[in-house]
Amino acid sequence: MSRASLVALLRERLGLDPGSLGERVLDQAFEEARRNLGLADDAALLARVLLDPLAFRELVARIVVPETWFFRAAEQFADLARFALGEARARRPLRVLSLPCASGEEAWSAAITLLDAGLAPGDFEVLGIDVAPALVARAERGEYLLQALRGREAVPVWLEREGDRLTVAGAARRGVRFRVGNVLDPLLFGSGERFDVVFCRNLLIYLTAEARQRTLAAIATVLEPPALVLAGQAEVLPTMAPGFVPLAHGSPLSYRYAPAVEYAALAPPPAVVALTPRLRQRAAPVAAASSAAAPASAPAATPSADDPLAEAQRLADRGELELARKACLERLAREAQDRAALYLLGLVESGRGDLVAAETAFARVLYLDPHHVEALEHRAACAERLGRPLEASQLRARAARQRKSGGPS
Ligand SMILES: C[S@@+](CC[C@H](N)C(=O)[O-])C[C@H]1O[C@@H](n2cnc3c(N)ncnc32)[C@H](O)[C@@H]1O
Repeated sequence: MSRASLVALLRERLGLDPGSLGERVLDQAFEEARRNLGLADDAALLARVLLDPLAFRELVARIVVPETWFFRAAEQFADLARFALGEARARRPLRVLSLPCASGEEAWSAAITLLDAGLAPGDFEVLGIDVAPALVARAERGEYLLQALRGREAVPVWLEREGDRLTVAGAARRGVRFRVGNVLDPLLFGSGERFDVVFCRNLLIYLTAEARQRTLAAIATVLEPPALVLAGQAEVLPTMAPGFVPLAHGSPLSYRYAPAVEYAALAPPPAVVALTPRLRQRAAPVAAASSAAAPASAPAATPSADDPLAEAQRLADRGELELARKACLERLAREAQDRAALYLLGLVESGRGDLVAAETAFARVLYLDPHHVEALEHRAACAERLGRPLEASQLRARAARQRKSGGPS
């Protein structure tokens, strides 16, 4: 029972698909965590990790697969150099994200590739993010054993070698940063953060289908299209999310991201859409958890043929959810920054029963406006129905605090 709860907790917090690791690996990880924390059994481990973030961190350290090396899948670094000197030559600094970065070899390899391609240290910024703090600390140190090159013959000039040790040289360190972060955290990225290139390699294979979609949705939000996205083995992005097209003449694991609707330059517009009675009824499974959330008395937008948002609302009122969804997307194609359209899209998606899409839309509203109480509550209801009760209660607590402080909604 406790073991099942530990597995459920990892699924909820990390998005981990337990089947990707197997029973034996999980049991070993639980055993090591128990031993390191001095706990007798899984029940004690569960109680501890639920209450103590440091203990949860210890468990995460035992669970994650930290394997990485310099220039892993070298042809993708060639894709990066081509992109930097070709399609993205006007983008300086070129912004590169390594998520997850593990112990940093991928992020440093990106920086070294760009330096080798002739970019100056100030011409690019590389950010590495990983959920495991110990790995991020190693990444920041920039010190490795020779075997981190995995048989690559020439040691790049940007790595100083002493015996079997390598240290990232000072010149390569400029513009490279690391931080701890969970890809499922809706506040993973700051509001101004954007990237031209993302390495998202060898994480998706360990995640549940839902966590994969959330990860790609989060990444899509911060990409500046057309962007270069590098995936790992068996991570076929077009089968997981729209907008990813295999790179012509590149590695089969490299993609160009240029969707029809861009969510890149989001910023909050003022309007808040009224949730109409008909839609509220259709969205009931989600809205029920937050009946106080719907601003029923807020004035409805006036329908207008030129205004897809008003049209979307009118269609939603009539229960025409497919058409309402289309109208929302039309509005977003015209004005990707429309918080009200994203919020209505979330309601419509939940009315259609697509909770993952609804959650993604509410997450985007919250990305624009972290104080949006209704979006927080709808998102909590989605999380609950998608089997993540802990996250749901955290979101509800946040919404309650927000209501209490009388902050903007
Ligand atoms: C196999 S490594 C991949 C490293 C590198 N991208 C590569 O391909 O060489 C997987 C990494 O994913 C990280 N990870 C697992 N779940 C995560 C999450 N929810 N958010 C961020 N990082 C996560 C782990 O800590 C681990 O370092």
